[in-house]
Amino acid sequence: MFTQLDNIDYDKHYSISDESSQQAFASLKGVLGNRLKNNYGVLLEIGAGTGGFTKGLLTNIKVNRAIVTDISPKMLSICRKRVLGESHLADDVIFATYSTGENILPSNSIDCIIGSFVLHHILDYKSFIRKSYDLLKKDGAFIFSEPCYKFHDALVLTMSEILETLIGEGDNSEVDLTRLSNWIHELHFNLKYVGDQDVLSGREDKHLFIRSEVENSAFDVGFELVEILPYGDPDAINQCLLSYLPQLDLSHIFLQKVSNLFDLYHIKYFGLIEREDAVPAYVFFFKKKMNLFSRLFKNV
Ligand SMILES: C[S@@+](CC[C@H](N)C(=O)[O-])C[C@H]1O[C@@H](n2cnc3c(N)ncnc32)[C@H](O)[C@@H]1O
Repeated sequence: MFTQLDNIDYDKHYSISDESSQQAFASLKGVLGNRLKNNYGVLLEIGAGTGGFTKGLLTNIKVNRAIVTDISPKMLSICRKRVLGESHLADDVIFATYSTGENILPSNSIDCIIGSFVLHHILDYKSFIRKSYDLLKKDGAFIFSEPCYKFHDALVLTMSEILETLIGEGDNSEVDLTRLSNWIHELHFNLKYVGDQDVLSGREDKHLFIRSEVENSAFDVGFELVEILPYGDPDAINQCLLSYLPQLDLSHIFLQKVSNLFDLYHIKYFGLIEREDAVPAYVFFFKKKMNLFSRLFKNV
């Protein structure tokens, strides 16, 4: 198993730095508040990558032991350097390659399983939710931030109309038009084949999440507390352009035209979805409570 992200300079492409890692932690904490505790016994991070979230996390909360994992040895070694730049963390943190498919961790051994934008890379994410329930101790938490289907659906519709308008107006920036159109196509593919494991298995980004489906998966495996929290500002939808469009390497003038048209068109599509879904991502917060009622109910 491998990640296609090994083929790029991940930190450069996504502007990862110690500062961005602190921001990533602060914005997750902003959404979760006290749900994210200040200390955990054993914490397991999945898909830590180069530490774009790990460093912020481990410098702001206390752990007895953090197991920081990723499928990619290359990314994990960058993460290791980043995190151990804080020498006081050396005794508490171990790094391990792990793709979530290996049976290497004992049941009821983890207090928090956490990941930042990684579940959508895992083909059978529902099995992983089941496995996480088994790995967690009583009162353990499952915390993942992941992209939202409905937001991206509205985004693709808006961008398609923008593309059509620009072509209709005779815009002749061929490279920019091609880059935008390829990006729309990529996203549209994942929307069209949502949930189709055969089609999605060969793709790096495999899932965009539908709230009710994730809720059902979490309840089905036994989580008693299941919250899906909006991650982003539904009143500032155009903010998403700041994170997406720079990655497309569009010319400044073309970028400006796209932004102006986005302001005009997006309401038409985003106005059709609920506020809770008008955000680029969700934070999944599940808790394993194992109270008597839920144990009895599970056996029934
Ligand atoms: C979008 S990156 C996020 C990295 C990091 N969490 C962050 O927020 O900067 C997704 C990460 O998931 C990892 N990944 C992909 N497939 C995986 C799998 N099956 N199991 C574990 N990690 C995986 C990739 O190597 C990559 O580091």
